[in-house]
Amino acid sequence: MTTMKLPLTESTAWKALLDHKKSIGGQHLRELFSDDPGRGERMTLEALGLFLDYSKNRITDETLRLLVELAKESGLKDRIDAMFNGEKINVTEKRAVLHVALRAPKGATILFEGKNVVPQVHEVLDRMTAFSNRVRSGEWKGHTGKSIRNIVNIGIGGSDLGPVMAYEALRFYSERSLTFRFVSNVDGIDFAEAVLDLNPEETMFIVSSKTFTTMETMTNAQTAREWLLKSLGGNSAAVAKHFVAVSTNAQKVSEFGIDTANMFGFWDWVGGRYSMDSAIGLSTMLAVGPENFLAMLNGFHEMDEHFRNAPFESNFPVLMGLLALWYNNFFDAQTIAVLPYENYLKRFPAYLQQLTMESNGKQVTVDGKEVNYHTGQIYWGEPGTNGQHSFYQLIHQGTRLIPCDFIVFANPLIPLGRHHDILLANAFAQAEALAFGKTAEEVKADGTAEWLVPHRVFNGNRPSNMILADRLTPDILGKLIALYEHSTYTQSVIWNIDAFDQWGVELGKVLAQQIIPEIENEEIPQLKHDTSTNNLIRLTRKMKK
Ligand code: F6P
Repeated sequence: MTTMKLPLTESTAWKALLDHKKSIGGQHLRELFSDDPGRGERMTLEALGLFLDYSKNRITDETLRLLVELAKESGLKDRIDAMFNGEKINVTEKRAVLHVALRAPKGATILFEGKNVVPQVHEVLDRMTAFSNRVRSGEWKGHTGKSIRNIVNIGIGGSDLGPVMAYEALRFYSERSLTFRFVSNVDGIDFAEAVLDLNPEETMFIVSSKTFTTMETMTNAQTAREWLLKSLGGNSAAVAKHFVAVSTNAQKVSEFGIDTANMFGFWDWVGGRYSMDSAIGLSTMLAVGPENFLAMLNGFHEMDEHFRNAPFESNFPVLMGLLALWYNNFFDAQTIAVLPYENYLKRFPAYLQQLTMESNGKQVTVDGKEVNYHTGQIYWGEPGTNGQHSFYQLIHQGTRLIPCDFIVFANPLIPLGRHHDILLANAFAQAEALAFGKTAEEVKADGTAEWLVPHRVFNGNRPSNMILADRLTPDILGKLIALYEHSTYTQSVIWNIDAFDQWGVELGKVLAQQIIPEIENEEIPQLKHDTSTNNLIRLTRKMKK
């Protein structure tokens, strides 16, 4: 499947980058800025209402040229086209990867196996719209004739993280008379706490699962069914009024007892972690209304078109992907911190963890050869300014290099006194401090005692991106998500790995299925695990009440 002629580390561009790193790797951002007065304005990108300042990266124009060369040598253009053309780029699962079709406008053509999939996408969007309008207006009645006031999404992974993140991100735009809850964990506490104060008569469950076989979701959905029927007199006719499903598996949905008339479908060519803009986003649409949901899809689509068409040098996702890869492979950086200075984006880092780490946490190339370079980074982060009083210490003075993506908005959604100016000032100050630091001379000049000087030095030279937009809107959220989706794909193409499978989640699932009866059953099991696992099972069986 690869278009690379040589293994990655033997490619001309890779070798050129290794040499280049030797010559510029030691250079400090202080020098890079003082030698190049135009840098802060030149190393920026503005498109689609997003502004990126990438000048505080440990790069020169030559670095960028070589990184772009690497992308070209890796056949990135062809691989982007392959995705948009519905080729089965998820090679190990033999699937096309067409999340871009989920946000294509009516009238667009995106082919999968010779058939335009865009009309089916809009058919589902129209059904979601009609359904959302009925619930939001109070027209949809529960089993006892009351309108729905509470919506509980049951799902996990891509069927949860996207919906939760989007609900939190767009809460400003949400219908405040409706209550939203999200249940994902098989830990019963998650369900118990989520419904504790809810009236079943006014509660609707959205069971979201691509496969409709996921253990956590099916366990929670079953418990939800029991919870509902217990208080509504046990009449299973109530299920039709209080449960809808989002899935690709109609058979399993009806086996569960949900009428497929109340099912919103999507397709095999949508990966779980790329599905929040499919029917998996039903809870988002219910919260913010169809108009805002469609505005978000439009934002996604604009970023898709930009990714497909913009030259690599000025292509947002390509540039961000290349910068991330630069630190991962040439500086041995292991992580990337995503730091949104916008409280509504508090779940964005968690969402990105599945997107980036389930996609690019791979040890072999698409043709099964072990890689001899690092692949996916660890993504993590917290909204500003909370992190400043927690882990920023390590980013500033620790021994590891942690590239940061700051995300800021010029305007708050809820203006409140001086809060937003203070917030913005903190984001800019952190990026400045990380890049330029504070030398021993500067620390001494403050009158610091000699012995304390080393403790108060900031070495600086710690890279960051600053992503800036006017304000957080549904459209901008769509663009931000698509930006990271495509930046993830960009890196996977260069690493020559399959970003769309997730075999690494399988082994634990299989072992859990074996262990469940060993914990649960009355009779003493014949344990055949390692001595540690056997011991833990025996011990918990003894401790269990
Ligand atoms: O276990 C990983 C995974 O398959 C994810 O890729 C997916 O998002 C999640 O489980 C949930 O799967 P489903 O939507 O089929 O319940």
